[in-house]
Amino acid sequence: MTQLELASITPEHPFSEQDFEYTALMPSYRVDLRNPRNEQLDRFVNANVVSDWSELSWKQVGRPFEVKKLAKERRDWEAEHEQDMPVKTSWEYFNRSFHNLFMQDVPAEQKRLKTSLKDRFKGFHLRDVTHGLGEMVRLSLWNYVHRIEDGIWDPRGKRALFEGLDVKNPRILFLGAAEGYEAMQLHAMYPGGEVVMVDYDAFCKTDRFGHFPNTYPFLGTNPQTGGPKVWYKDQMNISYLVKDIRDLDFHKEFDIVLSVGLLEHVPDEHKPAILDWHRKFVKDNGYVIMTTPRNQMKSRIYYHVMADMMNHTYRELMDIRQMGLYAYENGMDIVRHGYIKVHNGIIARAR
Ligand SMILES: C[S@@+](CC[C@H](N)C(=O)[O-])C[C@H]1O[C@@H](n2cnc3c(N)ncnc32)[C@H](O)[C@@H]1O
Repeated sequence: MTQLELASITPEHPFSEQDFEYTALMPSYRVDLRNPRNEQLDRFVNANVVSDWSELSWKQVGRPFEVKKLAKERRDWEAEHEQDMPVKTSWEYFNRSFHNLFMQDVPAEQKRLKTSLKDRFKGFHLRDVTHGLGEMVRLSLWNYVHRIEDGIWDPRGKRALFEGLDVKNPRILFLGAAEGYEAMQLHAMYPGGEVVMVDYDAFCKTDRFGHFPNTYPFLGTNPQTGGPKVWYKDQMNISYLVKDIRDLDFHKEFDIVLSVGLLEHVPDEHKPAILDWHRKFVKDNGYVIMTTPRNQMKSRIYYHVMADMMNHTYRELMDIRQMGLYAYENGMDIVRHGYIKVHNGIIARAR
């Protein structure tokens, strides 16, 4: 290792390009710097199911699957207020709940739950024991899906999905940014421009993004050499707007407009508006990038078991043909489509 490379490793920035092939389980997440060019690991599977989107019909592809089981917090709120929970409130509940999951020290929490379960068994109250077992199951599922499998952040899948874009120093707009993960991954791969994150829940700026670990390494590009480089949050050019997307006054000025898990949160009658949000702000030769959760058995099980933590909002699971058809019918030309671990992915251009 050169002096320069050694100097770049600090407690805040613990990894560098020297750590290629490295992966490790941290208490709350996985670090994964495995070879960015390894076909086996970095898989964005081009589904290749559709060659001509104009030929596809809703009759052929059917409708997405709606997740019906709602979080207890939402059911309780609605019973207490005798009205539907407003959409923004549902996001506020969701963001706090999801953030708590990400922030957990999973092994420590597993230990705590184990001890508590033993005490519950001693107390011999069936309801207590059942509750404790439920907590253990949900934590184990979270541990597997997020920490071991890395299915939610899925850095290798995201890198593969974002690869090969024709952009230079891009301005990236992230709609419904939450903690901002995907925009940071894009910015690391295509540095030199800027990221604008937008979310109307202030908690996302202060906590979800604010407390996103600065020690988390994003594998990207070194603009000086064109070779690989590890980037950290505090090295990126990011601004975060707490604003309703409908109130943004940008024009078609972004090279990339991105959303992750937005389209599936509204019923069909509102989907054109969501897609229009993307088209409105993207340059004529820019890219729209969207991902949505896949309709697969393991995702259905996940949202069923994790309902109290995840299901504060309206939610659908869809397949890549359904997602593509929404985009195509609403004025987008699809450049690539396929899937990563738990999401469908589309790279499109506004028609
Ligand atoms: C499901 S999250 C996106 C998934 C994200 N990757 C995560 O980890 O939660 C969608 C985000 O969009 C935000 N959002 C929804 N509608 C919005 C709107 N009209 N304006 C701004 N933000 C919005 C929500 O507050 C939420 O943080």
